[in-house]
Amino acid sequence: MAARIIDGKQVAADIRAELKEEIARLKARGIIPGLGVILVGEDPASQSYVTGKERACDEIGIFSDDNRLPAQTSQRDLIALVKRMNGDPRIHGILVQLPLPKHLNESEVLLAIDPNKDVDGFHPINVGKMVVGEKAFLPCTPHGVVQLLVRNGVPLDGAHVVIVGRSNIVGKPLANMLIQKSPTGNATVTVCHTRTKDLASYTRQADIVIAAAGRPGTITADMIRAGAVVIDVGVNRVEDATKKAGFRLVGDVDFDTVREKASLITPVPGGVGPMTITMLLYNTVESAKRAAGLDQR
Ligand code: GUN
Repeated sequence: MAARIIDGKQVAADIRAELKEEIARLKARGIIPGLGVILVGEDPASQSYVTGKERACDEIGIFSDDNRLPAQTSQRDLIALVKRMNGDPRIHGILVQLPLPKHLNESEVLLAIDPNKDVDGFHPINVGKMVVGEKAFLPCTPHGVVQLLVRNGVPLDGAHVVIVGRSNIVGKPLANMLIQKSPTGNATVTVCHTRTKDLASYTRQADIVIAAAGRPGTITADMIRAGAVVIDVGVNRVEDATKKAGFRLVGDVDFDTVREKASLITPVPGGVGPMTITMLLYNTVESAKRAAGLDQR
């Protein structure tokens, strides 16, 4: 039987509607959540992500401070802008779009962000807090994956999750979130990557396979157990002359064959993608609440 498709757009819309209500309540108390956005250079994919983030802010009532800087911006000027945002009380979250141009030192820039405004959850302080299970800003894509699973009723307690990919943005934080002793964790997690021998021998054991390798065709039907849940984090551009843009987006999973064997599967686009921006909005609203002393949890 073909898998049920997990509708990321719907889950994202549900969370955004919850946030919109929350923002209306905050505005009634004179609090407007604000996001500072910094994009350096003209990478088309990054431009389109950043535009999407700003549009999403606008739609639910988050103020966004848009800063598009030339590719040759110096480390000093970039850090000065981050520090200005650290001190700006209208801004509760700071987002520096990655990757940065090669001449810039990414980790130094991330370290300059006030951890209390680090809505991407990339600052080592937030990474450390997440690992030890303290309250922290959780990175948006893995947090979105967990929400997709939880809100679709996928049991995590005791489940075997196999993650394919070990990036700082997805694989590593996702593994940490899923092993936490918590109602949204308690899974047994295996992390595989490009140096894993016999990848299929691991993925076949999984109740849940999460593909975050950045390579089309990483997961094929023979690599999953019948009835497994398959989450595709991949966003790959493949040439397609029939499309106006000249390309189309595909994930890491061979969707057409895997959907015949899985019980639940995310499409690309329309699966994990809409959740990433949504969790950024969520973190920004959380940060505004914390700054106002309204955060009870
Ligand atoms: N580049 C790719 N994904 C992300 C993300 O989640 N945040 C930022 N800042 N840059 C990215």
